[in-house]
Amino acid sequence: MKTIGIMTTGGDCSGLNTAIQRIVRGATLRGWRTLGILDGTDGLCVTPPAVIELNDLMLPIENARLAGSFLHNGRAHALNFETAAETGRIAAFNRQLHKSLRSLNLDALVLIGGNGSLSLAWANREIYRDLQLICIPKTIDMDMPLTERTIGFDTAVQQLTSFCDQLMLTARSHHRWFVVQSMGRDCGQLALHAGIAVGAHAILIPEIKFDINALIDHIKSAQTDYGIIIVSEGISLRGHSGRPADMISRKLTSAGITNRPAFPEHTQRAGDTTATDRILATRFADCALNAIENNETYVMTALMNDTVTTVPLAEFIASGEIVHDPKIPDLMTSNAYVSPDDPLLSVAHDMGIYLGEQK
Ligand code: F6P
Repeated sequence: MKTIGIMTTGGDCSGLNTAIQRIVRGATLRGWRTLGILDGTDGLCVTPPAVIELNDLMLPIENARLAGSFLHNGRAHALNFETAAETGRIAAFNRQLHKSLRSLNLDALVLIGGNGSLSLAWANREIYRDLQLICIPKTIDMDMPLTERTIGFDTAVQQLTSFCDQLMLTARSHHRWFVVQSMGRDCGQLALHAGIAVGAHAILIPEIKFDINALIDHIKSAQTDYGIIIVSEGISLRGHSGRPADMISRKLTSAGITNRPAFPEHTQRAGDTTATDRILATRFADCALNAIENNETYVMTALMNDTVTTVPLAEFIASGEIVHDPKIPDLMTSNAYVSPDDPLLSVAHDMGIYLGEQK
């Protein structure tokens, strides 16, 4: 009988519980034990490790659609890769994780994480040398290379779209614009998708430079006097500081455009998991369990051309754009961005959405 572990790390998103529940279900059907590691790597920093034995009763199927992680994602100030790097304790931290995993006698660990977590797992791969490491990509930012979708993205698009839909009604009543700031770090996927879904008049994303006067002209020449402008949190405006939506809002106000900034914030990570995300989480869970059966290790599940498969973590690192992590000096994170060839850009352009100064 195999024993497998599951761990959720990094920021939460909707769909984590579906993935956890499906892994437990599939493991149970195979006659395996499943241990849930609590609070990400925090759960491995205590002796004995903080784990719970998972079964269908622990996470009932009707709760698997709820956002957040049943296993939690870790505390901000606990010892983790970031705080260990800051205090020069990374070697001791790695030893502790390895020791705890060994003590659990795991055959495999399913790590559900974003690009930071997967990049860290690869950089510190010795920790996982005694077991099979299978990763599942999740993030609302959709900034991970080698997979066309990540768990949580579809629900985040739905949440942001619903937020904008509500604002659109009050915008119309008051003849005003809303400048909505989306999450996404330095990747514009979330803003782009929700902006098209809601029928935004402008979408500003970090990948495309914009001209504030062109944006103002675009809004002034719109057929309506209300609507939505989505700005991704990663954009900047030269000579200005503060939250991007506030900066843009102030500029529009000075140009005589009535508007309000709005911040959906962490509601983008919440919300009942959409059917699309649940299906993706189920497919990734199934793929991860098959990978364990096939004795794979250091792999990540990925969606490519509507097929779910595993890809080596080494390839994930090699195919992304490598950026220095701002918080962990030695860590290179593998990132993906909106490509200039993304078909959604030309659709948005053809629909008259201001997207910046595209070449
Ligand atoms: O990476 C997911 C994400 O939600 C980003 O879009 C956002 O910038 C960040 O995490 C927010 O992190 P926190 O929850 O720590 O404020």
